[in-house]
Amino acid sequence: MTVSVFIGTSVDGFIARLKGDFDFLPPGGGEPHGYDEFMASVDALVIGRKTFETVLAFPEWPYGNKRVVVLSSRLIDFSAVRGGIVEQMAGPPAEIIAKLAAYGVKHIYVDGGITIQNFLRAGLVQRLTITRVPVLIGEGIPLFGSLPKDVRLRHVSTQHYPSGLVKSEYEVVS
Ligand SMILES: NC(=O)c1ccc[n+]([C@@H]2O[C@H](COP(=O)([O-])OP(=O)(O)OC[C@H]3O[C@@H](n4cnc5c(N)ncnc54)[C@H](OP(=O)(O)O)[C@@H]3O)[C@@H](O)[C@H]2O)c1
Repeated sequence: MTVSVFIGTSVDGFIARLKGDFDFLPPGGGEPHGYDEFMASVDALVIGRKTFETVLAFPEWPYGNKRVVVLSSRLIDFSAVRGGIVEQMAGPPAEIIAKLAAYGVKHIYVDGGITIQNFLRAGLVQRLTITRVPVLIGEGIPLFGSLPKDVRLRHVSTQHYPSGLVKSEYEVVS
């Protein structure tokens, strides 16, 4: 099982403004920087409830027919979801991964700040692809948070794009 993160941030490390707006990210994801190829390699997504609420407001369900797990401690209403297999789970990241492994899932895309932090803290993320957008927003929802110990990374590659996007890929070493 591989667990990956693929996310865009401001250069100062925020994934959204404090109220959840992400107007500082390029519209439509910006110039192609590997997202479609990454998505094609993913079997299932695990997203936080707040990210779910954000994507539910998009004109189209962005995950096609992929299996999507929404994490929440409260009961979620999926009646407005217009596609795909969507289910709710809660609990420790290791249990969520074990349930998905039982479905035959081999590559999970974890998304949402708190959710990514929980999986990182549990030592369950193998790959991080972070695309920095050339802007500082000063405050917002951070990508990273506290950790019980250092997470060592191996730099795999960095690419930059004409619009100023800088995409760096890391493998988690320990
Ligand atoms: N820049 C980007 O590429 C990008 C990507 C994704 C999201 N975003 C933005 O990031 C914001 C959301 O991030 P966020 O950090 O605020 O929240 P989040 O991670 O999307 O959601 C957090 C919520 O997920 C639930 N949760 C997480 N782990 C859980 C677990 N193990 N068991 C049960 N519930 C669990 C909890 O929901 P309950 O409170 O219901 O229990 C928690 O409050 C949105 O504004 C979104 O647009 C940006």
